[in-house]
Amino acid sequence: MGKYNLTVNGQVKTVDLVPETPLLWALRDSLNLVGTKYGCGVGQCGACTVQINGVPSRSCMTPVSSVGRQKVTTIEGLDAKDAHPLQQAWQELDVPQCGYCQSGQIMTAAALLKDNPKPTDADIDAAMGGNLCRCATYLRIRAGIHRAAEIARTQKGKK
Ligand code: FES
Ligand code: FES
Repeated sequence: MGKYNLTVNGQVKTVDLVPETPLLWALRDSLNLVGTKYGCGVGQCGACTVQINGVPSRSCMTPVSSVGRQKVTTIEGLDAKDAHPLQQAWQELDVPQCGYCQSGQIMTAAALLKDNPKPTDADIDAAMGGNLCRCATYLRIRAGIHRAAEIARTQKGKK
């Protein structure tokens, strides 16, 4: 076992785990941040996606000992202040079906919109290709990202 100080959603949290424990389990079991989901466990589905220093990352494949001082953001962290445009858009368009893959989808989409505030369909498909959805909500996810981009632009215009 070893103690690791993780910076998660802007707060430093200490976990006591064996070094190879996946970040996913540190988040879910040690820190009770259960919005991040376990899908395949082998880096193939994207259900466990969080952001590490703003980059979408598979928490099931990230040993807790490798995280260091990097900033981890989970789905819970997106809603810290105002509702995030993606969360608003997801609700408006009723994007999820079973919902299981959706926090991973939103974390990948949030990173995309940060880099590219007005993505095309092709940009969205390229960025989201690694996030699988067994319920095949892909068209609604794409529409949701366009809508979130629109909401974000309107919010910016109001500031
Ligand atoms: S659970 Fe991590 S990629 Fe599937
Ligand atoms: S909404 Fe069911 S797996 Fe994506």
